[in-house]
Amino acid sequence: MNNFNFYSPTYFAFGKGREADAGKYVKRFGGSRVLIHYGSGSVVKSGLLERIKASLLKENIHYVELGGVLPNPRSGLVYQGIEICKREKLDFVLAVGGGSAIDSAKAIALGAVYEGDYWDFYQGKRVENALKVGTILTLSAAGSEGSNSSVITLEEGMLKRACGGDVMRPVFSILNPELTCTLPAYQTACGATDMMAHVMERYFTNTQNVEITDRLCEGILLSIIKEVPKALANPNDYEARANIMWAGMVAHNDICGVGRDSDWSTHQMEHELSGLYDVAHGAGLAVMFPAWMKYVMHHDVQRFAQFAVRVWGCEMDFQCPENTAKQGILKYEQFLSSIGMPIRFDELGAKEEDIELLVKTLGLGNRTLGSFVKLTEGDVRKIYELAVY
Ligand code: NZQ
Ligand code: ZN
Repeated sequence: MNNFNFYSPTYFAFGKGREADAGKYVKRFGGSRVLIHYGSGSVVKSGLLERIKASLLKENIHYVELGGVLPNPRSGLVYQGIEICKREKLDFVLAVGGGSAIDSAKAIALGAVYEGDYWDFYQGKRVENALKVGTILTLSAAGSEGSNSSVITLEEGMLKRACGGDVMRPVFSILNPELTCTLPAYQTACGATDMMAHVMERYFTNTQNVEITDRLCEGILLSIIKEVPKALANPNDYEARANIMWAGMVAHNDICGVGRDSDWSTHQMEHELSGLYDVAHGAGLAVMFPAWMKYVMHHDVQRFAQFAVRVWGCEMDFQCPENTAKQGILKYEQFLSSIGMPIRFDELGAKEEDIELLVKTLGLGNRTLGSFVKLTEGDVRKIYELAVY
């Protein structure tokens, strides 16, 4: 196991009705003037936004609202949010929604205390300071409610880029599984695919002797595989929603990634797809992850066979572990299809003729991508090609 630091200071309030205490938590974590930030209307329609505002008013907390965050959140709205925070001297950003609202809130929090252009941070500038962010989560998926990162799409050229740092972990996150019962089946499935990908980016590693994190990863995957079909069959299944919600958090706050190298090449290849076609991140991952697996499998057949046996219940073929490894990838693809995910370019709406453009915007040049297998630009092209058929 590698040396590591693990700093995950988010306070989680989990369970039914917990959003009623949003105002108390803002106060407890030092907020007095708040920007409430949300998406395109689901939180208005559900009445959640009104409940949050009432909770803030109860604690005499001043607030300003900024809605309109789109999935794959755009840079332009972030500038508006920063301007509001500076003008109104706000000291706290409260995100109400999914990963997009939270990521946009994190970006605003960075820019509100920075004199330059906040996009600098998404081009690699070190993150050191930000306003505090709290979240009320309505979609189990991205894990941004506990993660140290944010992903924003620059409207000019639709470039999707990430940035991260300790100060970007929310100070609190309210997780009420009931709030996810209104999710369309497609978003539930996209969310599950994303959280599985967060685990697998960490699971496929070259680091040896990481039994504890291997087993955590496998446990999270097994739980998602068991609970997601239940939530799809009965969207109001509270227990399934609750398990899925916590799975999304533990999949990405890095508790299952510490002490081991993690990969992230599939996420970066996917960000080019959701940047170019504005598709859901989870759906893009459903197309890219199996393709990546098929391409890199021979690097460590044993690890893929372990994944097949422990996660997908495949029988080990001792004569030919490669068969077992392939079987695991097939079962993973079948699961994705069974929950309504696309697994090939055309099902996603992606086009083979855009592969060159995807490779170009990824902008690898002579560098490599990932760590399990260090991918060259040529490898990336081949993986996109594998995702076509
Ligand atoms: O905008 P509204 O009206 O709220 O509708 C949203 C949106 O259309 C809807 N929705 C959310 N909660 C709902 C609901 N509809 C009904 N009932 C509810 N309870 O769902 C749609 C998708 O929302 P979005 O926030 O975009 O989805 P998600 O949570 O999957 O976030 C995706 C974004 O997170 C990024 C992705 O790249 C993508 O931009 N990621 C962020 C990460 C991080 N910060 O750590 C890591 C991830 O790997 C990921 O890259
Ligand atoms: Zn993701």
